[in-house]
Amino acid sequence: MRIIKAKDYEDMSRKAASIFFARTFMRPDSVLGLATGSSVLGLYASLVESHRKGDLDFSGVRTFNLDEYVGLPADSDQSYRYYMNDNLFRHVNIRIENTHLPDGMAKDTDTECKRYNSVVEGFGGADVQLLGLGLNGHIGFNEPGDSFVGGVHAVDLDESTIKANSRFFADEGDVPRRAITMGIRNIMMAGKIVLCVSGAQKAGILREVLCGEITPRVPGSVLQLHRDLIVVADEAALSRF
Ligand code: GLP
Repeated sequence: MRIIKAKDYEDMSRKAASIFFARTFMRPDSVLGLATGSSVLGLYASLVESHRKGDLDFSGVRTFNLDEYVGLPADSDQSYRYYMNDNLFRHVNIRIENTHLPDGMAKDTDTECKRYNSVVEGFGGADVQLLGLGLNGHIGFNEPGDSFVGGVHAVDLDESTIKANSRFFADEGDVPRRAITMGIRNIMMAGKIVLCVSGAQKAGILREVLCGEITPRVPGSVLQLHRDLIVVADEAALSRF
């Protein structure tokens, strides 16, 4: 595990983006595992900027995302498909058919989980997997529980996650209660994992994730077992180290 200490959010975003930049620059056909949330917004802005300058070509890049809410259509501005289009895909020359997310509107969620699992496993995992960290230690939407779930699966979101994510919705009641997420095996198959963490409110959970017991009660703790984990975190998030 490598921990890269950044000064603040902007610095974290630039440093984390440079890992994705380097990989994509050297290997234009890279498979990138992508995440949503506020921690990774600056990273996407930085990649868009590199593309605008003519330094980064996405025409051969393939992506898949960690998760999606159940019940939100792609054109809902709260769906993760919308977030990805809005913050990255429509600003770069990626082919939209090379971008993959679970379909939150699929008629049958179990069938959709199987389909998406084949997509992810078909790639053999990501070359580089981006992750944010939930306040309760979740990665993707792998919520604290009694066991690690390996493959793509549907989850009931934690009350704490619904509360945390309600900041993006007009009303807490509008936050979907279910999601489809990549599982722990899907995530751990990545060649390299980049975990972005920012802010003092994540300091306690980041310490638990990196230094505590490896347990499904703190899903991110499993990352301690990955052979190429890079944590890019700002000083506030690392203040308990
Ligand atoms: C959501 C996403 C996660 C993300 C987490 C942290 O719940 N499903 O993939 O890592 O939020 O989000 P933020 O970066 O906004 O704190």
